[in-house]
Amino acid sequence: MEQKVKMNDPRKTDFMYEEAIKTLRTNIQFTGRNVKCIVLTSCFPNEGKSDIAFQLAKEIGNIGKRVILVDADIRKSTFASRYRIGRPVKGLSHYLCGTLEADGVCYQTNYDNVDIIFAGSMVPNPSELLEEPALEELIQHLREQYDYILIDTPPIADMVDAAIVAKWCDGAILVIEERRVSYRIAQKAKKKIMQTGCKFLGAVLNKVDVKKERYYGSYGGYYGRRTAE
Ligand SMILES: Nc1ncnc2c1ncn2[C@@H]1O[C@H](COP(=O)(O)OP(=O)(O)O)[C@@H](O)[C@H]1O
Ligand SMILES: [Mg+2]
Repeated sequence: MEQKVKMNDPRKTDFMYEEAIKTLRTNIQFTGRNVKCIVLTSCFPNEGKSDIAFQLAKEIGNIGKRVILVDADIRKSTFASRYRIGRPVKGLSHYLCGTLEADGVCYQTNYDNVDIIFAGSMVPNPSELLEEPALEELIQHLREQYDYILIDTPPIADMVDAAIVAKWCDGAILVIEERRVSYRIAQKAKKKIMQTGCKFLGAVLNKVDVKKERYYGSYGGYYGRRTAE
């Protein structure tokens, strides 16, 4: 791959957070060979999907597996600005519009075995674009090149994008911010995912205050907290 980007992670993760991400990685590995393409979503914005997608990609890359992180949150793309890429990059929307081929939107990163497809420019109709057969074709293409494909999406509670993406994925992870999401809403999101035919892998409980929490069991997820920006 010719295109390269340098991503600079501005934040420090703590030991607990790193361990939680590694546990998540291990659990994904144990789901088997047929779970290769994974969609990450949440009920609401800012629960930490993009953060977890990025950290998980890094940890998968660390064990020698080839992984590509795809930003399908075209409405709120975060990676290029958060990780201070420092130059304009093309992305998924350019591919879906037909402006560029798949190879034109894949970038190699400075993290071992981790490639990325950025969201691209904001378009007025992200859901319609994702409905294009081009998305499925892209995923098929990536399946041949990578061990894992992680797809970051907008929240599923009031946008259809994540469900559209999930149709082509083998498994889904629901990121849940502690104390923000009710059991009922989390169940509704899970149902929406399962209706697409995608396997529900589980929930990640995020932003848990580990000092306060003695145990955490409501969603049976993982937990982690990182120091703020
Ligand atoms: N475990 C965590 N602890 C503390 N802050 C977090 C954690 N995970 C994410 N954040 C912060 O929350 C904000 C939203 O995270 P982000 O990954 O962009 O959410 P989403 O992709 O779900 O909208 C960011 O400012 C991020 O740094
Ligand atoms: Mg995000």
